[in-house]
Amino acid sequence: ASSTSAAATQKWQKVGTVAELDKTGQLLVADSPVGAVLVVGTSKAAKDLIAVNSTCTHKGCTVAWKTNKNQFVCPCHDAEFARDGKVQEGPAETPLKTYLTKIESDSVFVKQ
Ligand code: FES
Repeated sequence: ASSTSAAATQKWQKVGTVAELDKTGQLLVADSPVGAVLVVGTSKAAKDLIAVNSTCTHKGCTVAWKTNKNQFVCPCHDAEFARDGKVQEGPAETPLKTYLTKIESDSVFVKQ
């Protein structure tokens, strides 16, 4: 039998509310159904929302979004990732996983 969790990750998953996202322009959910997710943006520009798996691909620290640099930066060894998850500065070598995002009524959803 195939695992139900694999199927679940291919559906839109609610990770939070629009109010939470809009408060700081970021929503970090450590234990979402698709893993650790960091959504960046606000509902005012919903089509520009970005979402990545916030677990650094180097050694697993949690990356932070830096608006002024337009990058995700890892606090542990200073790896830098672009909006689309691509590595811009090592030591990480693998891009951050990215997710599709959408807002529906007052909820924020991501999908692999
Ligand atoms: Fe992120 Fe090392 S754990 S750069």
